[in-house]
Amino acid sequence: MSFTNQEKLTDSARRWALRGDLLDFTGAPVWGETDSPAVRFDRDHWLLIEDGRIVGRQAAAPDESWPRKDHAGQLVMPGFIDTHVHCPQLEVIGSYGTELLDWLERYTFPSECAFADPARSHAGAEVFLDALLASGTTSAVVFATVHKVSAEALFDSADARGMRLITGKVLMDRHAPDGLRDDVAQAEKDCIDLIDRFHRRGRLAYAVTVRFAPTSTPEQLAMAGALCRADASLFMQTHVAENRAEVDWVARLFPQARSYLDVYAAAGLVHERAVLAHGIWLDETDKRLIQDRGAQVAHCPSSNLFLGSGLFDWPGADFNVSLASDVGGGTSLSLPRNMQDAYKVQALRGARLTAWTALHAATRGAAQALHLGGEIGGLGVGQMADICVWDWAMGPVAQARDAVARELHERVFAWMTLADERNLSACYVAGRQRV
Ligand code: GUN
Ligand code: ZN
Repeated sequence: MSFTNQEKLTDSARRWALRGDLLDFTGAPVWGETDSPAVRFDRDHWLLIEDGRIVGRQAAAPDESWPRKDHAGQLVMPGFIDTHVHCPQLEVIGSYGTELLDWLERYTFPSECAFADPARSHAGAEVFLDALLASGTTSAVVFATVHKVSAEALFDSADARGMRLITGKVLMDRHAPDGLRDDVAQAEKDCIDLIDRFHRRGRLAYAVTVRFAPTSTPEQLAMAGALCRADASLFMQTHVAENRAEVDWVARLFPQARSYLDVYAAAGLVHERAVLAHGIWLDETDKRLIQDRGAQVAHCPSSNLFLGSGLFDWPGADFNVSLASDVGGGTSLSLPRNMQDAYKVQALRGARLTAWTALHAATRGAAQALHLGGEIGGLGVGQMADICVWDWAMGPVAQARDAVARELHERVFAWMTLADERNLSACYVAGRQRV
């Protein structure tokens, strides 16, 4: 990377230009299609950026009045969107030996208890968001903990970085240890206060955050549904149908429900701003409901492999599917690494995931499913300048592979298969360099 007019290119530069190989999407790629009209690839082009937004995209170099960052020969994509990740679980990543329900009890719940301490919540949020940016993720839908301060800390830290962040205090009033349970009345008060202070403030938004059906009483689920009904601009995030023992437990806890998803649907929680993590063990009626409601499933391949949860049926999904790390069940914040696992999950099912479908799910597809397509997920004029610059190849093996790639999908697929956070050369959020 070289800098021109660098003396003018301070962090506060209102307008500047970036050069590189631009890759984003103008539509949804068709499953299995490696030659896709939805892909927009402009080799050696320029993005013009003003006041944090993209104001131009062109082949010609801009005039000399534009300070420049020259990333010629590097891959430029919109910052990735991680639609399901847990801030307080960085420290349990890579914990040995269990499936979901044991893993929660042995590792996750004890780690989350520490976030009752405001200092721990604030320090945790800072480390977490910097780690997301260092992985090339500029927007995220995040689980905090049950503690109100853990959501406040995430909102404050994201705001300081100019990041698009959707989060909320976790709702959990049963089947969790002391120190990790709330109650309906206090939880409702905390949610309302957080919504008043943070929802739609700058690039922040609130998600009503039901951990999963087993840790909320029917009364708490009803309260969560009432919050969503009162304000249709609120997001909702939860887990659904991740693990077979979990699905069986939900069936015992909610005998009147037709299915696990139906527990949420009956409470009014499955709507167009709902982000449902995993969705491995859904039936056809569930899938149709997700599609009809315009909700999305956050597919978490590294988590699903690591916790032995199952193989998500991506080609069978007619609903919105986005990509997510689910750290600490997932084993990396890097979405390219999660794409590698997503490819292998589909390979085990006898299907093939193209680089286009994988990248779309981490950019434009996620943005559209979140109703944020005008702001994030692309490199179009008018969108925010959340931009990541990647080296096409790091190290001799990737370089040898890249050198013989013949057409675009082959090259990008090899990048996706071999890349991780070490390929990230620069990361800009709302036009300001953060990595
Ligand atoms: N289900 C309920 N809580 C969790 C969690 O923290 N991680 C995952 N992967 N699944 C969950
Ligand atoms: Zn999760």
